Amino acid sequence: MNKLILTGFMGTGKTTLAQLLSIATGIQAVDTDVLISQAVGMTIPEIFERFGEAGFRAWETAILQQIMAKPDPLIVSGGGGLFLHADNRKLAAGATIICLTASPEAIFDRLKATSDRPLLHVEDPLAEIKRLLLERKPIYRQFRWQVDTTQHTPEELVPQIQAIWQRDQQLRQHEVCVVTPEGFYPILFQRGALRTLQEILDVHGFWGHRLIVGTDDRVADLYGERVLSQLENAALVTMPSGESYKNLSTVNTIYEELARLGLDRNGVILALGGGVVGDTFGYVAATYLRGVRFVQIPTTLLAMVDSSVGGKVGVDVPMGKNLIGAFKQPNLVIIDPDVLNSLPAEEHTAGMAEVIKHGLLSGDRRLLDLTLPMETRLRAAVQVKIDIVQRDPYEQGERAYLNLGHTFAHAIERASMYQWRHGDAVGVGLIAAARLSHALGLLSDDDRALIEDVVSRAGLPTSIGYLYPQVIWDAMGTDKKWRDGQSHFIVLKGIGQPSIVKNVPRDTVIMVLESLRNE
Ligand SMILES: NC(=O)c1ccc[n+]([C@@H]2O[C@H](COP(=O)([O-])OP(=O)(O)OC[C@H]3O[C@@H](n4cnc5c(N)ncnc54)[C@H](O)[C@@H]3O)[C@@H](O)[C@H]2O)c1
Repeated sequence: MNKLILTGFMGTGKTTLAQLLSIATGIQAVDTDVLISQAVGMTIPEIFERFGEAGFRAWETAILQQIMAKPDPLIVSGGGGLFLHADNRKLAAGATIICLTASPEAIFDRLKATSDRPLLHVEDPLAEIKRLLLERKPIYRQFRWQVDTTQHTPEELVPQIQAIWQRDQQLRQHEVCVVTPEGFYPILFQRGALRTLQEILDVHGFWGHRLIVGTDDRVADLYGERVLSQLENAALVTMPSGESYKNLSTVNTIYEELARLGLDRNGVILALGGGVVGDTFGYVAATYLRGVRFVQIPTTLLAMVDSSVGGKVGVDVPMGKNLIGAFKQPNLVIIDPDVLNSLPAEEHTAGMAEVIKHGLLSGDRRLLDLTLPMETRLRAAVQVKIDIVQRDPYEQGERAYLNLGHTFAHAIERASMYQWRHGDAVGVGLIAAARLSHALGLLSDDDRALIEDVVSRAGLPTSIGYLYPQVIWDAMGTDKKWRDGQSHFIVLKGIGQPSIVKNVPRDTVIMVLESLRNE
């Protein structure tokens, strides 16, 4: 059971309902006002008088922090203004939040006999209730679950609230959370999630907002109609499929389309597609109107295990790959493994390169065992990415390890005029990184052979074909990590032991590339 928070305006029945629910479920109920009173040693009116509303709100945040840190389920009735601050909304994102509502008259009727409501110590309390309700409407309406208490007794509402709590939990049971410097976001793994998208979005706070489904033309053909038909207030924006369209010209076209559709800052962009769609629409979400909310719905294996998690978005420019970009954390990632059924085999294979990479970085041998069920490896691979980006969200340290094989891969993509699939390039890039690590005396021959064997058994390319090593070396010079003119490679000292080496001699790199060339 997760936590249940009953919020809403004063007089909507939060405390009474929390107590009744506690009796019905046997789960402890707490009230934030009571906890604050106990912590400060004053009544709520005294706290308002002494510290003002701002002081009271600071105590609310502190108490909410304590509540959310407790592992046990809890029923919490929260003061009416609990979610006025975005920080508190972030803190409570893992809980089921139900907003109780009532008409201003009913609220007035319920409160007129009480004297402990400092906000209502005014000449015309009913007018003040109406004013405050109007002011707080934007905050209250963002909660998916709303229960109008005007016409019902608390006893009548208990089963309704229990049913909502249960449904909310069902929808969240397949989630893991990624903690970021700005808060956190959930990753939902759920077969068939694409069929219940509106409900999933509602529960996660996108209720009633304008939705833009960004995708590419191939994914649009497969899923566009299905997704759009079940969403309220949504429009489809498509880009052509393929890496060669991950560029500023596409971004510009998308900006124009969003402006035409009248997307404002409350809008949400959903990136439905592979890494190209996620990177491109993510960059748009980071920059359009200085940023709008963003949901990743990856549809390739590569995007599921890698590009949809971690917040790196961006596009290619003629000078190099991913040279223009931003950090834009998604607000939610929805992974529906069922969509992989339509993925062409070669795209699936390409995604395996990142799965294997995550195994080589973390030492999790399940990721190198191709006999295990795909879903086991999928979840394990996503977890590796989560662990790394949580420890190093802005790539100031170990996150750079995720580029294992990528210095080679990006250069191969570029040298092939982006005719190579990214994942395929990463596959042979992993072999190149293993051979380089071995050539530098860092990796044992057994581990090198193991890496080459896994890459080959996964069906990934094991040679660079007829590409010229010198052309690849030249393309490496445009890599972001080579800004200071020094070569820069992620190497392995063993399985699960990545490291960075700089200033590798050109001849060593060329030798490795020569060994990977078709005769
Ligand atoms: N941002 C990051 O952290 C990060 C990490 C890794 C890779 N990337 C980027 O990801 C991109 C590669 O992603 P990708 O391999 O997903 O390529 P992609 O997005 O081009 O998708 C590959 C192809 O599969 C099609 N497709 C997508 N989903 C499908 C489905 N379910 N069924 C049928 N067809 C489907 C697409 O239309 C496309 O033609 C590269 O640009 C790479 O730089 C980014």
